[in-house]
Amino acid sequence: MTRLWHGFAAMGAVDGAEFVVTRGEGARVWDQAGREYLDASAGLWFVSVGHGRGEIADAAAAQMRKLATHHCFFDHANEPALELADRIVRDWTPFDDGAVFFGSGGSEAVDTACKLARRFWSVQGQESKTIIISRQHSYHGMNAYGTSLAGIPANLEGFGTMIPETLRVRWDEAEDLEETLDRYEGRVAAYIGEPVIGAGGVIAPPEGYWKEIRRICTERDILFIQDEVICGFGRLGDRMGCTRYGVEPDIITFAKGVTSGYLPLGGVIAGPRVKDLFWAPGAPPFRHGFTYTGHAACCAAGLANLDIIDREGLVARVAELEPIVAEVMAPLADIDIVAEVRTVGLLAGIEFTPEVLAANPGFADKASVKSREAGVITRGLRGVGLQFSPPFVTTPDELAEMAAGLRAGIEAMAAVA
Ligand SMILES: Cc1ncc(COP(=O)(O)O)c(C=O)c1O
Repeated sequence: MTRLWHGFAAMGAVDGAEFVVTRGEGARVWDQAGREYLDASAGLWFVSVGHGRGEIADAAAAQMRKLATHHCFFDHANEPALELADRIVRDWTPFDDGAVFFGSGGSEAVDTACKLARRFWSVQGQESKTIIISRQHSYHGMNAYGTSLAGIPANLEGFGTMIPETLRVRWDEAEDLEETLDRYEGRVAAYIGEPVIGAGGVIAPPEGYWKEIRRICTERDILFIQDEVICGFGRLGDRMGCTRYGVEPDIITFAKGVTSGYLPLGGVIAGPRVKDLFWAPGAPPFRHGFTYTGHAACCAAGLANLDIIDREGLVARVAELEPIVAEVMAPLADIDIVAEVRTVGLLAGIEFTPEVLAANPGFADKASVKSREAGVITRGLRGVGLQFSPPFVTTPDELAEMAAGLRAGIEAMAAVA
């Protein structure tokens, strides 16, 4: 019997059948029985530098021994939070200047970004600008804002209306944003989008999409938020998704890769336009913050993680691995029940055919269990496919092994479908 309530799980099925991981090293983890697996999803897209990095543990422990944390409300701060904020803006964004507002993960980052966007307009007397627009298939976390913005309908089901001032547009047509802005003239605060849609299926933007979105947001005077919770800190072979696609948003949200998941940390990076408004003499405070905003040990882990990424050239490594990912994953598209394999950066989504999905409810999740039985950890994405997002340190041989394990899992499911 378990008393641990798992996320996104039907507990009746999980109770007594939990998959418990006890140890990790590089791209590999081991379960309670000592069985080895390749972690093809890097946990939930986060273990960028790989498992077992004692250096991050040492940095967090040293910070805890000195000062576990000191909060960042009012004029208070701690050293790792100051240093990490500085380093993120300077080294990881396209911004000439900016400011970081920390929280504990991606969902808090999305809440912070949406509140900040609304406050940005209300401070300027434009109280009617309250709507946040998101994209079909998008995932922005599970707090009230992220749930309300969800482009995955199942994630909204059964909660009723949470934040009503939210709207969705098609994922691939910038004109849909323009048309929506025509209909809601003067009422929209911001548009939010993932550079590459992650949990919705690993879907890269159409050519030129982000430049069009930047143009529209500028012309129509709404803020442009990039949700970089998955793409940020190197996952697409560039500093951020927005730097890969050559656009400068107004606000960036981040989490996961900033610490490689060693400790919970996330936040919002406000670009110069947003920062300057709140930094101006006499500007009101942004009345927002969390107990663990800028937690010192988490920020120390973040600094150690970024040290590893820099020292080992892991962003460039992702760019080098990108064609290898495409090469090892492409053949999976030959399996009868696979409709499409999409790859970008160190990401892939394997989507099943509508026929097999219609005939077998829960097919993708069951295929992920079969892949695990074949020694490769993945998970179902939006009920339509499988996730591939390995650690940046994965070797080309391990990438091929992962693809083979996924194939074995999918073929095992095809045999029973
Ligand atoms: C794009 C995006 N935004 C927000 C979140 C929410 O992050 P968290 O689960 O850390 O709250 C996620 C999580 O996967 C995500 O992929």
